[in-house]
Amino acid sequence: MKRVGVIGAGKIGGSLLVRLAAAEDYDLGVSDVHEEQLRPYAEKYGIRTTSSNRELAESSDLLIVAVKPWDVGWVLDEVSPALGNGKAVASVAAGVTINAIQERLPAGTPVLRVMPNVCASVGLGSAVVTANEAGRAMLPMVMEIFRHVGEAMELPERLFDAATALHGSGPAYVALFADALIQAGVREGIPRDVARRLVIGTIEGTAVLLKDRSAHQVRDEVMTPGGTTAAAFVAMEKAGFVGAVYDGVNAAAEQSRGLGR
Ligand SMILES: NC(=O)c1ccc[n+]([C@@H]2O[C@H](COP(=O)([O-])OP(=O)(O)OC[C@H]3O[C@@H](n4cnc5c(N)ncnc54)[C@H](OP(=O)(O)O)[C@@H]3O)[C@@H](O)[C@H]2O)c1
Repeated sequence: MKRVGVIGAGKIGGSLLVRLAAAEDYDLGVSDVHEEQLRPYAEKYGIRTTSSNRELAESSDLLIVAVKPWDVGWVLDEVSPALGNGKAVASVAAGVTINAIQERLPAGTPVLRVMPNVCASVGLGSAVVTANEAGRAMLPMVMEIFRHVGEAMELPERLFDAATALHGSGPAYVALFADALIQAGVREGIPRDVARRLVIGTIEGTAVLLKDRSAHQVRDEVMTPGGTTAAAFVAMEKAGFVGAVYDGVNAAAEQSRGLGR
């Protein structure tokens, strides 16, 4: 059984641990600076817990670093002396490059980079994965780990800032749109709780439709020539809706590139 250690029991690390524990395929451990955050993982899921990242590294074959990007450097410095002998490191941090990771670790350490999203917490996450030369053999195992919380696919590292901006931040954009739609319904006089249920159902149903139809097909099925949806599209496009989405994703990608410098 592979020994997998997660550093950082937060939103991403915690989601992974809960699903991996249910799968019973891994010998799991977790470390975090907050001991109280670790307790439920030991009590509810029987996961090994420690407040020492170094100790976790000693007892793991694969370490998943799930702390904020600015904490990654000193976490790597802490665990580095316990690495070697093929032990691998996978980071989910936005903007932190494989080069920046491997230069803090023993030469030849398998390093993987993963960009997940918060939908992992409900098992519907999307993740992209890449690796350095030494880490390529670990790609199937790490993809399998992230398939426990949704979908996982390989993507070259040069596209990671774009992916971070697209699906890493994506749930927040969809939530922004959902909120605007709910407010718009309320403005038209629909009770807030009804507007909320209608909007959530619409997003859920549209996501299912989009699995086997293009966005244009869905649009055309809804849009009667001269009808209400067509009127909405003209107004939204005039207000710069599509341009705002391009600009937002581009700003997020630039921010991610900045984290890597
Ligand atoms: N959240 C997302 O939607 C999302 C999506 C894609 C990728 N990511 C990436 O995933 C990573 C984790 O994000 P998150 O949202 O899961 O963060 P989070 O909820 O803040 O979880 C990180 C946890 O690690 C703890 N921690 C901080 N420094 C540590 C250290 N030196 N040793 C051990 N534990 C430490 C944090 O404590 P403190 O709270 O005291 O710092 C916190 O409990 C980030 O790098 C982010 O870029 C996040």
